[in-house]
Amino acid sequence: MNTNKLLKVFLLIAGLTAVVLTSGKIFDFGLFEDENSAKNQPVVLTDQTAFFPDLFDDFSYYEHDTVSDCYYLYDSKDKLNCYVLLTMPYCESIEGFGGCIPFAIVFNPDDKIRELYLLENSETPSWIESLEEDGFFDLFVGMTCEEVLSTEINAVTGATFSSEAIIQSCNKRLSLYADTGNVNRGKSWVEILGLVVSFLFLIFSLLSFLNPQKVNRFRIFLLIASVGILGFWQGDFLSLALLNNWLINGMKIWQQIFLFVVLILSVLLPLITNKDFYCQYVCPFGSAQELVGKINKKKITFSPPLTKALKYIRFVFLFVLFVMLVVAVDFSVENFEPFSAFKFEFASVTVLILALVVLFLSIFFNKPWCRFFCPTGALLSLLRGKSGKTKKKGIKTGLLINIILGVSVLVLIYVNFLTNDDQVKETSKKETIIMNNALEVIHNRKSVRHFTYEPVTEEQLETIVKAGMAAPTARNLQPWAFVVVTDRGKLNDLADALPYAKMLFDAQAAIIVCGDMEKAATDVDSTYWVKDCSAETQNILLAVESMGLGAVWTAAFPYAERMNPVIEILNLPEHIRPLNVIPVGVPTGEDKPKDKWKPERLHWEKW
Ligand SMILES: Cc1cc2nc3c(=O)[nH]c(=O)nc-3n(C[C@H](O)[C@H](O)[C@H](O)COP(=O)(O)O)c2cc1C
Repeated sequence: MNTNKLLKVFLLIAGLTAVVLTSGKIFDFGLFEDENSAKNQPVVLTDQTAFFPDLFDDFSYYEHDTVSDCYYLYDSKDKLNCYVLLTMPYCESIEGFGGCIPFAIVFNPDDKIRELYLLENSETPSWIESLEEDGFFDLFVGMTCEEVLSTEINAVTGATFSSEAIIQSCNKRLSLYADTGNVNRGKSWVEILGLVVSFLFLIFSLLSFLNPQKVNRFRIFLLIASVGILGFWQGDFLSLALLNNWLINGMKIWQQIFLFVVLILSVLLPLITNKDFYCQYVCPFGSAQELVGKINKKKITFSPPLTKALKYIRFVFLFVLFVMLVVAVDFSVENFEPFSAFKFEFASVTVLILALVVLFLSIFFNKPWCRFFCPTGALLSLLRGKSGKTKKKGIKTGLLINIILGVSVLVLIYVNFLTNDDQVKETSKKETIIMNNALEVIHNRKSVRHFTYEPVTEEQLETIVKAGMAAPTARNLQPWAFVVVTDRGKLNDLADALPYAKMLFDAQAAIIVCGDMEKAATDVDSTYWVKDCSAETQNILLAVESMGLGAVWTAAFPYAERMNPVIEILNLPEHIRPLNVIPVGVPTGEDKPKDKWKPERLHWEKW
């Protein structure tokens, strides 16, 4: 067997293995469970998801399906309670009287709408109430996504404009959701016609493939049909983005039956015949290049060694994209191939420019994208050997290897197809980033020792101290007092006196947390005030973090040589003892939170 083929086999198997084994971006799930990222993670709610606990009593956590941008909400028994679609940012342009009206569409697990949950908006509350009274929102309740999309829901008389905005937003969001393949919508007659015509085209291309001599004179029609039907009309083509999507979400065979058949043929025919099927007879972008190329018959050619070298570019390109996907670099594969330019209304500017440049180059070079750049073509070409030249013995081994390769690709896709619905939901749970504001602040807090010269206001300092006072204290004795310093001279004096608080030179303020010995429970324990004031201090540090400011606990207690200068500079009475000095300021961003999570120190039920 030749080394070249061995190398291809190795690359393909290694690639697929890497894909399967990584829990990177290609799969929403890995073979190995990630202990740290399961549902045991703390729930962290962002502004967008802050209302989730209001949807039902026993809300425990949620998972986010990033493909359909759908949130699945679970209760404490790990049971799916509902799933939620947010209309923002998709419906930003749809406005009622008071601007856009953000809301959440809440579905029961049986796919029926439970409620439309209005989020903060500028509509008059009385109007919203009147809509509720008129039963406007109830119109949606109990309907499935398909039912809403196929039913005309009427706006409310008297408030037509804004209620129309809600209907439009609902339709837009649901139809986007349906487009991600989550909803089994019946096919319209135009869609059925498109499917029939696509299959007729496929038969035509199969005949051309099997009998090129006879059918070749009709090739121009094949090219036009490919561009017109598959490209512009149906937008049906194989691409890395599509294959990647199938790997992530599985394949819904009946909804994508045409592409499924194309995939099977594109894998099997080269395996059996060693000839290229998809790139030569089906690909609409290949056809577009060939058609444009007809403008100029005299193409620029390169020397054979250079052509051979250039052909390797597409393999390198494929390899680079593949590595980026596996290591979970955040990028859109579709932007690296020109195919989606056929659906120009949805295509990105990058793709449109790429497609136009390639088509322009096709005037001078023969199908430049296919020959030198196409990663999808490169992937498919791994399935076939070199046509014609192989010796008989070689064909047998090559064929066997190719069949194994092809079958492994199909098995991989089929396994994903099987695991599509439930398992994707189940497994994506493990990857979900679950957020809640308080926890976010707790985990982001860090000792900040580098400050800018921006001021901290009196209001901010008061808010911070107020948070300190809210902390728990033994017997609720509240044995604390706070001194806030903003005077530069005093801050410098403190900085001079305290060996481990030199950042006071840069800080704009300092809060000194003090224990009041007249109020403290010193009869029980002489250091109870330390525990109480420590709780105050932690509240202060968290409040500071939550306000985008920075602070650090610098110790005064129990060191006499630090407490004494503080007492002196601040003129503290005898019964007041400084626990610490907290420099406060606007952080430069140099200080970062430390990861202190040590699961081995967590013991469940017993040591
Ligand atoms: C009781 C106590 C005393 C501390 N004293 C000082 C201090 O005198 N100077 C200082 O720069 N940091 C001081 N720190 C801050 C710790 O060094 C800091 O909390 C620790 O390195 C962990 O880093 P982090 O706060 O960024 O998570 C003190 C912290 C505590 C709890």
